[in-house]
Amino acid sequence: MCGIVGIIGLTATTEVLLKGLERLEYRGYDSAGLYVNDQNGHDDLIKTVGKIENLRAAVGHEIQGTIGIAHTRWATHGQPSVANAHPQFSTSRRFYLVHNGVITNYHELKQTYLKDTEFVSQTDTEVIVQLVAAFVEQEGLTTQAAFQKALGLLEGSYALLLIDKQQPDTIYVGKNKSPLLIGVADGFNLIASDALATYDQTSTYLELRDQEIALVTSTDVEILTLNGEKQTREPITITIDDSSVSKGSYPTFMLKEIDEQPAVMRRISQAYLTPDDQSIIEKKLLDALTQADRLYFVAAGTSYHASLVGKRLFEKYAEIPAEVAVASEFGYHWPILSARPFFIFLSQSGETADSRQVMIEAKRRGLPTLVMTNVANSTLAREADYVLLLHAGPEIAVASTKAYTAQIAVEAVLAKSLGETRGLEIAQTFDLRRQLAIAATGMEALVSDHDAWARLAQNYLGQRTDAFYLGRGIDYDVSLEAALKLKEISYVHTEGFAAGELKHGTIALIETGVPVIVFITESETAAHTRGNVQEVRARGANVLVIASKVCQEATDQVVLPTLTTELMPLLTGVCGQLLAYFATIQRGLNVDQPRNLAKSVTVE
Ligand code: AGP
Repeated sequence: MCGIVGIIGLTATTEVLLKGLERLEYRGYDSAGLYVNDQNGHDDLIKTVGKIENLRAAVGHEIQGTIGIAHTRWATHGQPSVANAHPQFSTSRRFYLVHNGVITNYHELKQTYLKDTEFVSQTDTEVIVQLVAAFVEQEGLTTQAAFQKALGLLEGSYALLLIDKQQPDTIYVGKNKSPLLIGVADGFNLIASDALATYDQTSTYLELRDQEIALVTSTDVEILTLNGEKQTREPITITIDDSSVSKGSYPTFMLKEIDEQPAVMRRISQAYLTPDDQSIIEKKLLDALTQADRLYFVAAGTSYHASLVGKRLFEKYAEIPAEVAVASEFGYHWPILSARPFFIFLSQSGETADSRQVMIEAKRRGLPTLVMTNVANSTLAREADYVLLLHAGPEIAVASTKAYTAQIAVEAVLAKSLGETRGLEIAQTFDLRRQLAIAATGMEALVSDHDAWARLAQNYLGQRTDAFYLGRGIDYDVSLEAALKLKEISYVHTEGFAAGELKHGTIALIETGVPVIVFITESETAAHTRGNVQEVRARGANVLVIASKVCQEATDQVVLPTLTTELMPLLTGVCGQLLAYFATIQRGLNVDQPRNLAKSVTVE
């Protein structure tokens, strides 16, 4: 899930490349590099390990260039190093290439076509650029023919940009499964993984589809299939509000995005509900959904956790059975499906490769697909039969926060709509607009007292390297999400655990001082969970209880407004986000860009 940027026809190439990379840094940040050429025989290749600020420092002065490609890396093959950073280049130093994706047959290609080639990196990417060079320099093909032939041999995913130093008036672009957009500007063109990199240069884009290539010059974009058939493509407009992609007065994107959640709840209410609580969902989607006899939620990470809540919402308010699957598991073990399945994908980025693989197969089988996503022009949004947008605004921090609560809110709207379409009284009387308003107010109360959360993080997590989140039912679902939040940014080994299950083995890990954070918001299970609290307290755990008002006891440290049970994650989820955030700050770690991670995981 690297970030790539290419520019041709602009004199301030280097600065626009660096700024574009900085905006894509959330996609991967273990090393970076760029190649620029002034189209008069002078070129520069600079690569550094670590964050893009290191590359910017190495570039120093503005290198003259009118064509360039750049890359920020999330390592897949080979550790972060200058040699493994992109752009990768041919032995002849004629061809330069950046790549986002994973080539699964790179070993075979090496053995078959590049036995005598001296490789300088451990990357799959270097195989691509050496292949192109071999087809030009040994077989005498033109660069375009060699590019098409090489890409025709690749298996796996790629978004890639290539420059031929001997023909520096064209950027060769190829795409399969990894995101890529071509920006059309006035007198120059840009290519990027995501419009976030280039939105201040243009709002006009051309989408490249799988197994397509493009020849991009400063004035022209020619789109072809791999075997050279010209394609036409209508431009799309993508506009991004500058304030939504800057930290503003916040120290980090994550804190900004946590604090934005009340506003997101109100935006979703406006977008999907009338003042008298009627849902605004397209009839086509509802008609398709009413045909279904079972829902299949497929997602990864936080979106998977939001899907667990979605299952409960649909089963309660639409009385339709629902299954939830981790995308990477489902992809290889399709279950026996019901007679009339309907697939719902949750994906903040709309680019998660694991989820997309399932969508491709679902569509191949002719099954209906809906995606709930935060990115309107994303791959999953383009390929799903139906799309519901989260209206959460760009989410830059690697740890997903506002997208989680937005997904739950949108799921609630759709579950209510489907239930109403099925004439269910429980859906008709579901006062969702009021519930979302209470949730927004409750969120405001939570995010308005950062110091209180910093103190709780200090007192209950301190510098521990282990922690548990416990809950039953909906509180178990949120425990999984809260544990992921804490793990992925503070590196504290945290388990989200079913409270009732702990005594069947894992309670052996509880000893004096172990942090145990317990959610108790479900009346039906509160008494039993209180019993589990006593069990861990009896073994020395340092227990923090987060309860809803209807379940509260005097000793509870945090008491939340009561929402309908299935919407309580809108508040308990925020508690988990805030605890993770301040625990991470107190460890002096990088909240927005935790180690080893990237914002959208576009490799399987
Ligand atoms: C969540 O905090 C993580 N960054 C990660 O688990 C993420 O939720 C997962 O990769 C799915 O991403 P998506 O929602 O963009 O598909």
